[in-house]
Amino acid sequence: MDFKSSIAQLIVDKIQAVFSVRPLEPAEIVPLIEIPPDTAMGDYAFPCFRLSRALRKAPPMISDALADGLQADYLGHVASVKGYLNFFIDRATFADKVVTACLDAGSRYGSDMSGAGKTVVLDYSSINIAKRFHIGHLSTTMIGNALYRIYEFFGWKAVGVNHLGDWGTQFGKMIAAYKRWGDHDTVAAGGVDEMVKLYVRFNAEAKDDPALNDEGRMWFKRIEDGDPEALEIFNWFKAVTLKDAERVYELLDVHFDSYAGESFYNDKMQPVIDELEARGLLKEDQGAKIVDLEPWGMPPALILRSDGATLYITRDLAAAKYRKDTYDFDKSLYVVAYQQDLHFRQLFKVLELMGYDWYRDCEHVAFGMVSYEGQTLSTREGRIVYLEDLLNTSIEKARAIIEEKSPDLEDKDAVARQIGVGAVVFFALYNSRIKDIDFWWDRALNFDGETGPYVMYTHARCRSVLRKAGECAAAPDFNALADPASQEVVRVIDRFPDVARNALNRNEPSLITRFTVDLAQAYNKFYYENKVMVDDEGMRAARLMLTKAVAELLKKALWLIGIPAPDRM
Ligand code: ARG
Repeated sequence: MDFKSSIAQLIVDKIQAVFSVRPLEPAEIVPLIEIPPDTAMGDYAFPCFRLSRALRKAPPMISDALADGLQADYLGHVASVKGYLNFFIDRATFADKVVTACLDAGSRYGSDMSGAGKTVVLDYSSINIAKRFHIGHLSTTMIGNALYRIYEFFGWKAVGVNHLGDWGTQFGKMIAAYKRWGDHDTVAAGGVDEMVKLYVRFNAEAKDDPALNDEGRMWFKRIEDGDPEALEIFNWFKAVTLKDAERVYELLDVHFDSYAGESFYNDKMQPVIDELEARGLLKEDQGAKIVDLEPWGMPPALILRSDGATLYITRDLAAAKYRKDTYDFDKSLYVVAYQQDLHFRQLFKVLELMGYDWYRDCEHVAFGMVSYEGQTLSTREGRIVYLEDLLNTSIEKARAIIEEKSPDLEDKDAVARQIGVGAVVFFALYNSRIKDIDFWWDRALNFDGETGPYVMYTHARCRSVLRKAGECAAAPDFNALADPASQEVVRVIDRFPDVARNALNRNEPSLITRFTVDLAQAYNKFYYENKVMVDDEGMRAARLMLTKAVAELLKKALWLIGIPAPDRM
């Protein structure tokens, strides 16, 4: 049973009985029903001011009239408070319906499949070739991964794109440096680090030897012209970078459906440029071609440089169109740092000016910066934390904690990996995405705070309770779940469908992260206050059922944000 629907029907019938009108249908009432922040205000609340216009009465009068004599078998009582109708569900019925609904729906609990038949393209991680993954990439990678899972959960077809930064004059310089000082085996063994060294050396030496820059330009021209040697080296650089990145993606359990990066659009930009020209959108500006965005308060979008070179936005225009043509998306999301806000506003505006009304379906999912133990990161000043190092350190620290807390645990390495990675991911997804993050070890790995390990530990605790209990054949007595601590667990479970839907609608995985903490805290309180293995079988069955629902929901919610949930830890 879905309480909101039943209550909506009840309200509609009562309005009709009292006022002889039907201003809203039940389906319109359902989204207006709130879950009050405080239990004292009931399990559900309906704000009557939504009716005052149609009924031409003040909200408190409406709520008084509707509350009077309102009854249903699942209701404890109904109160009218200042224009709100507060519904108190009968405690046992509430527990029964919520826990049963959660367990019956299994891993689909909370999804209304509203995305069935729709497609979302997600551009996330989108790393740059010949650069190492640093912790600045953690947010785009993990927010994108979480959104991918959340959209799929709601029935969408998701397409994950790693829009590789694999185009630009720096790659000409890298080849020049490689030809001068590099050798195959060193780069093959050292990976991206070796490529970065070559690039740094190139820039240092080019200061005294300007001819080097010509060499770099020459090699870039050769890449552009499709010269086999240039392409071979360039593609090899790409493969080496991706191999390094793949190790991190594997640790994080992150995947992509496409690695079409910037260079993929080399032959797809001309039609876009022609189209801009044909629509009269291109303007000449000191030899360069721009789209004027002044009327919208933005600097011009630079489409072609005076030397004919294309730019980041030119590639993004081609990419946006390609994605629409290829995937026919209903939504196209770009999970990119807020620093690129202007770029995306320009991009979407140009798409609009080109007459593509699907520009409305494009969205920049922006997020804040990451700093490390109070220090901003800076490549130039050498303050840089690589993601792979961070994850490996986290796994080591988790390993040490396990050794101390659970010396007898089997498979310590696998569990340490799950906890170590999960702690970092959880930390990255804990605050609303637009906020800056400051990473601190003691906050990420604390087993008692609002952390990944705390939630994972609670999940493992539930599993352990269930393992020890074994099968329980008795019918659950839901009156055993009428106490405040049990009811709080039930209420949190009941909130999940709303939380998941909000996370989807706002592209905000942190809502789910926070939910896992609420559920873990509620369960732990229940666990300290209530013994599960009591003699009363009906009571035991009910408490076990609640425990099972929590275990499964914690696992599912963690999965949605990209975090594994070990059964033992
Ligand atoms: N590679 C870019 C960067 O590191 C991010 C690309 C984002 N995606 C896009 N379609 N522009 O800044």
